[in-house]
Amino acid sequence: MSPVQIAEFEAGLREALAGSLLSETAELEPDILRSSVQHLLGGGKLFRPMLALATRYAITGEPYSAGSAAQKGISVAATIELVHTFTLIHDDLPCMDDAQLRRGLPAVHRQFGEAMAVLAGDDLLTLAFSCLAQCRGWLGADAVLDLVETLATATHRVVQGQVEDIGSEGRSLSLQQLENLHRAKTGALIGASCRFGGILAGGSSEMLDSLSHIGEDIGLAFQIRDDLLSLQSDEDRMGKTLSTDIEKQKSTFPRLLGVSGAQSYAEELVAAIHKRIADLQLARPQLLADYASLALQRHT
Ligand code: IPE
Ligand code: IPE
Ligand code: MG
Ligand code: MG
Repeated sequence: MSPVQIAEFEAGLREALAGSLLSETAELEPDILRSSVQHLLGGGKLFRPMLALATRYAITGEPYSAGSAAQKGISVAATIELVHTFTLIHDDLPCMDDAQLRRGLPAVHRQFGEAMAVLAGDDLLTLAFSCLAQCRGWLGADAVLDLVETLATATHRVVQGQVEDIGSEGRSLSLQQLENLHRAKTGALIGASCRFGGILAGGSSEMLDSLSHIGEDIGLAFQIRDDLLSLQSDEDRMGKTLSTDIEKQKSTFPRLLGVSGAQSYAEELVAAIHKRIADLQLARPQLLADYASLALQRHT
């Protein structure tokens, strides 16, 4: 059987994910809250939920099809995107990065005001856990509790990473400090995405720990690529404000290692991830390996 390509895997899934995100928020009232919550939802790359579904596929070999368990997994994967979008809405606030542009649109606080942006973020975070709880009927209470613990732990680490990120403004971090910061701020949720796929596939606890580790490394590569794109791309293409790192004097991988040093560092990381994926001897490892490569090859 020829390997499944990312584009082939994502066909149909993108729409299904966007539909799931929309239906989870369709009933929110009042209108201003629903509009603020939905403003950015589904407009990003959907890297994290796709990675969760790709990890599930890598383990089970079961592709997406309407009515299958793979389709039910979409509502679980969507919860990671709810949390991720919450972190972006709050990250753009004037008290954080003070960014104007997100996903090619005005940031939520620019469109709806700061209070609504805080509340939209609060609601997305809460909705994520409420959606997970609603999966217990078909997924079972134990798996749902594993998902809740995974998402709560990862979200806490994202918040810790944000605290460190703000504390590091105007300071020069060591490479180890910067790596630790990004493993929390970006790596934790991407690690949780891989673990989500493992839980959906019924993986053993050893398998889940390996997947968390692999995902966190993918997250680190994803962040290094973000640092490089901030220097090499532009706001129109990226759809977000790029000046924050410079204005707030944040440490970045290219600042510490130079552009080619940061690129080599990330390439070595991705090579090590590929080896660890191969060691797991999954049914369909190639797709997961391709997502790891995409973290470093993406253009937006
Ligand atoms: C942005 O995440 C924040 C970082 C960790 C770099 P994404 O690059 O996944 O943003 P969206 O979800 O596609 O908008
Ligand atoms: C975004 O982080 C929010 C989190 C990862 C929690 P950054 O501030 O580093 O990323 P962008 O550039 O705004 O997307
Ligand atoms: Mg930030
Ligand atoms: Mg930011």
